[in-house]
Parts: sequence; structure tokens; C-alpha cells
Amino acid sequence: MTNSPTGARLTSTHVVPDRPLASLADDVRAGLLTRPRWLSPKYFYDDHGSALFEAICATPEYYPSRSEAALLAAHGRTIIEASSPEHILELGSGSSRKTRHLLDACDVLNRPCRYWPFDVSAQMMLDAGAELVADYDWLTVHALIGDYTGGLSTVPLPEDGRRLIVFLGGTLGNFEPADALAMLEQIAALMRDDDRLLLGIDRVKDTATLEAAYDDAQGVTADFNRNVLRVLNRELEADFPVEAYRHRALFDRDNARIEMRLTADYAHRVRLAALDTAIDIDAGEEIVTEFSHKFTPDTLRALLNAAGLAMDRHFEADGGAYSLVLARRA
Ligand code: SAH
Ligand code: AVI
Repeated sequence: MTNSPTGARLTSTHVVPDRPLASLADDVRAGLLTRPRWLSPKYFYDDHGSALFEAICATPEYYPSRSEAALLAAHGRTIIEASSPEHILELGSGSSRKTRHLLDACDVLNRPCRYWPFDVSAQMMLDAGAELVADYDWLTVHALIGDYTGGLSTVPLPEDGRRLIVFLGGTLGNFEPADALAMLEQIAALMRDDDRLLLGIDRVKDTATLEAAYDDAQGVTADFNRNVLRVLNRELEADFPVEAYRHRALFDRDNARIEMRLTADYAHRVRLAALDTAIDIDAGEEIVTEFSHKFTPDTLRALLNAAGLAMDRHFEADGGAYSLVLARRA
């Protein structure tokens, strides 16, 4: 394995979207100025929001992260042996904490690879990248800064070399169903016959477990939810009274999803100076801030198949509480 200075092994690039992307201002005009009010969950993840997500993962109620980490620890070697990646591209990599299990397996199996984390939260990714190159002396990290909803065709992966595309944490569940399919189709379009997708997906289960995972007793998830208002206050010179919003997380079994909302305690007017407009919010009015879709083995398989992918291996945690799937092009 190679051994070069850490600085030379961490690079970063901005990924240019392959289609026009709505700006925060556009999304706020489309989602907040009309009813029902909604916002994209991608706006949670400024530096503070990314740190709050890490804190959510440490709460006793938020099992998905621990379940997935346990699956990666148990099956990391099998996954690396089955996929033999020369490039690992990870979508929404965040702190890359769980990805270390895959890198440990590469280490043990003496299979160096290049790591391509892709995240909108640049600082979190660069800090994680610096730690990774310090800890794995053979690893090269190419941090890709950008919004993956802008498409994947412009991701600067080399043509050569087997690819393992990693999408962990159940983040695909944060897409609306049609968008989740479109995202998987884009992933499939990046894959050749030898390439693999490693997908982490949360499963449908009892309401109490799901709702507790999204409404922890310490209030970390509530703070994460309200953080999106702080982002709007900063980025759009708005004046949302952040503490006047209550966090709600409800499981909608018909749509198999957790819905996170912010509910206003009292009527108020919010000014958005950067948009030269204001919004009148009624008492009890709600803003939908996140969907988190949950799957059964059947709905997961159907989604993969619809995108032209086939399940190669299916690892399940805690009696089916969480799934980690290795998939190939069908
Ligand atoms: N994969 C990690 C982090 C999950 S949190 C884990 O399993 O723990 C979701 C991650 O996706 C965050 O790091 C967030 O910044 C990133 N993200 C969310 N929407 C994104 C988008 N549209 N484009 C790129 N990254 C996004
Ligand atoms: C990143 N994503 C998969 C998390 C989820 O579980 O939907 C985000 C989150 N929202 C609240 N808690 C965690």
C-alpha cells in the first residue's frame, strides 16, 4: 500500500449540477409562501445541523444508525470481497463514521481504494476526510461538494475501476417515492456490470419505536428540526421566532413514512428581507420539514427492480429493524 503525506491525499471539488437546481429562495417561495407549507430536508444540514444529526445518532431512541453500524461491522469484509471496489462513491456521506467499517475491511483485505464522499455539508465532509487520510495511510479522499439532487452524471469519477456506490443511513427514504426512484435510476446509470450499490434502508415497524426515534427525550431531534428556521433566518434575513415552533413526528402508516413538522404556537408575521416579502403564520399552523420513508422487504425489492437493480445480498439487523442491501444492475 502507498504511504504519502495526508495533504496530498485529500482533495475537494465542487460538483456542477447537470440540471438547473432551485435555490433556497426559489424553494422557500414555492414551499412556504403557499399552503400546505413545506421545506426540503436538505436545508437542515448547515454546520450546526450536521452536528445535531450526529447527536441524534447518539440518542438511545435513534436505532437506525446503530443498527446500520452493526451490520457494516459484521459484514464489511463480505461486502468488500463481493464488490472489490477501486472507487467508493458515498452519497450524503456526512461524518463518514460508519464507512470506516468498509475502509477497515479494505485495510484487512489489503485492497486499497479511492474514496469519493459527496455531500452538501462541505465542512463536515472535509473534517471527516482529513481524519480519514490521517488514519488510513493508503487512502486517497476526493471530497465532492454539492447537491446530489442536481444529478450524478457530472460526478468526476474516473472511467476505469470497479465502483461501489454507498448510500447509507436510510437517506433514500427522505426522498418522495418518485424522486427515490429517479435517484436510484441515476445511480444505476453510473454502474457497470461489476459495480455494486450498498444501500441502507430503514424498515416499517411499530409506531411507538418509529415515533420515539424521531422525537427523542433529550429534544435533540426537535432542535435539529427547528434548525431549518435558523438557516432561513441567516440565509434569507428572516425573523422566524424559532422557539415558538414545536417539533412533531408522526408515523403515517398508509404512506409508510415518518412526517416531521414544525407547529407554530401562536399567530405571527415572519419577514424574509432577502425575498422582500412576509408570511402570516396562524396559531397551530404546520410546516412539513421531512418525510422519512420506511420499507418492507417487498417494497424495497420492488423499488430496486423498478430502477433496473437487483438485490445481490440482503443483511438485516435486529429481526428486520433495518436493512443493508448490496445490489447490482439487473
Ligand atoms: N450517511 C450518513 C449521514 C446521513 S445524514 C449517515 O448515515 O450517518 C444525511 C446526509 O446527507 C447529511 O450529511 C447531509 O448533509 C447530506 N445531504 C442531504 N441532502 C443532500 C443533498 N441534496 N445533496 C448532498 N448531500 C445531501
Ligand atoms: C438522514 N436521514 C436518513 C435521517 C432520517 O432518519 O430520516 C434524518 C433524520 N431526521 C430526523 N432524525 C434523523
